[in-house]
Amino acid sequence: MAELTRQELLKLVETTQAADGNERVRRIVGRVVADLFEAIDDLDITPDEFWNGVGWLTRLGASGQTGLITAGLGFDRLLDIREDEKDRRAGLAMGTPRAIEGPLYIPDAPLATAEVRLDDGASARAPVLVMEGRVLDAKGTPLKGAIVDIWHCNEHGRYSHFDPSQKEFELRRRVRVDGNGAYRFRSFLPPGYAIPPNSPTSELFAALGRHGNRPAHIHFLVSAPGAKTLTTQINIPGDAFIHDDFAFATRDSLIVTLETVTDPKGYESLGITGSFTRIQFDFRLQPATATTDQQHLAREARAHA
Ligand code: DHB
Ligand code: FE
Repeated sequence: MAELTRQELLKLVETTQAADGNERVRRIVGRVVADLFEAIDDLDITPDEFWNGVGWLTRLGASGQTGLITAGLGFDRLLDIREDEKDRRAGLAMGTPRAIEGPLYIPDAPLATAEVRLDDGASARAPVLVMEGRVLDAKGTPLKGAIVDIWHCNEHGRYSHFDPSQKEFELRRRVRVDGNGAYRFRSFLPPGYAIPPNSPTSELFAALGRHGNRPAHIHFLVSAPGAKTLTTQINIPGDAFIHDDFAFATRDSLIVTLETVTDPKGYESLGITGSFTRIQFDFRLQPATATTDQQHLAREARAHA
């Protein structure tokens, strides 16, 4: 039998002739493998380099950090850019812009109505923040039954669930809007975030000469009957990394304004007795045009499916 050439090998791996299996998977895997074969040839990648890469991928998976790498290499933002383009083509480019979910969302956080404390009320966490606003449709009409799912990191830039020192659902809450479409929550202004040191992720970014910092941000997943589910973030102004986010997620219209409120009147039910920082922000959702628009299959759920 004649020796196998790289072209013949590629044909076999690409499974272009196969009829079994999943056609879409065959197509995607075939393309990615062909591109990698080409990269190995073009860059003259050595066996050492190749197996170092495979070892790194193994450690990456074992550490549960694949989602950190996709964000840091720009894939998460690319997918958002593609969704934005799709919206523009469909004439749906309206409302609050989307921003990446990131790898740290956990579904089913405790649910309250109208207002909620993310800081649990157990300890005073500062600087005290109240964020408030309404959930509206594209015409500015309040969306009844909307739910705002909120999550952010603690004072050390760590997220509960992934950080075993925090309580279950710490700094993760959902709030259902009141009859006027209004929500509000109390928490504290979170700091920025950095990828875990001494990890497969930090190893790669060091080799790339890149930092692993994200500017201070708060995540949201906003849903309402008849509306397209929105995954977004707000950025807190004044952060040195605001335009140098390792995950490329900052959007100018999502950089909020911080107000200092000195009179706690009207905020007593949130346990506020002194001055605090306020963010006023309305979420504007697109109409749902497909049944899938109202669903959100969290990455966490996908990863365990
Ligand atoms: C990452 C962390 C975040 O807090 C986030 O919002 C997005 C990405 C990360 O580590 O990749
Ligand atoms: Fe985050």
